[in-house]
Amino acid sequence: MIKCFIAGNWKMNTTVEEGKSLASSIIENLNSVDLGGIEIALSVPFTHITEIHKIIKDTNIKIAAQNCHFEIKGAFTGEISPETLKDMGVTYVLLGHSERRQYFAETDEIVNKKVVAALKSNLKPIICVGETSKQREENNHKQVVKCQIEKAFLNVKEIENITIAYEPVWAIGTDVVATTKEAEEMCLFIRQTIEDLYNKSMAESILIQYGGSMNKENAKELLGQKNINGGLIGGASLKAEDFITIINSYK
Ligand code: PGA
Repeated sequence: MIKCFIAGNWKMNTTVEEGKSLASSIIENLNSVDLGGIEIALSVPFTHITEIHKIIKDTNIKIAAQNCHFEIKGAFTGEISPETLKDMGVTYVLLGHSERRQYFAETDEIVNKKVVAALKSNLKPIICVGETSKQREENNHKQVVKCQIEKAFLNVKEIENITIAYEPVWAIGTDVVATTKEAEEMCLFIRQTIEDLYNKSMAESILIQYGGSMNKENAKELLGQKNINGGLIGGASLKAEDFITIINSYK
């Protein structure tokens, strides 16, 4: 059973060679980590998947893609099929990351279509949700996140392969981390939202990550919270040592 799920989100960083050496040094250093119950994934650029897959294939580390299209194939120039990703050895896929919503006009409806397509292709979605600073200031953060979840899970019956990442937009890449209290409160709220949509046992077993400026200093406290089952780590996942320290801080 997975007790803690740590995923590194490399975003649009590293050349293929840099990515290969980052993955290799993560693996070398993981030897010192007791991985009992910890799931690890690297969310790498599409261009890196084949090479990184060769490096991680005999380890416990999984590969995540950063996006996929909602159709399996067809005339969608520049898009990537979830089936192709599965075929390349990808296990997880980030969907609805705030940067996709913000810069690429991804709506909740599109996120939902991608969730359905990913599951159909046997990929495990990591659905990202979170409010902007304005929405929090206006005290709308819970409503916004509830709505994102309700829409993302529309027509989805089986949720055991889904992870939710709570990522307040104001905390992503800013070095402004949510307080432990804020993060735990929202992850509990997300769990309650899943209970309302499904049932108590599904809500208890779904993994909820926190993401947004998680680093080697704050990880231990965040990962120690009851409703935070892991982290989605951007900047700090680009340094092998920091990423390993974060993994190590879950005990
Ligand atoms: P960050 O990014 O850790 O650099 O804030 C997190 C994310 O965007 O998933």
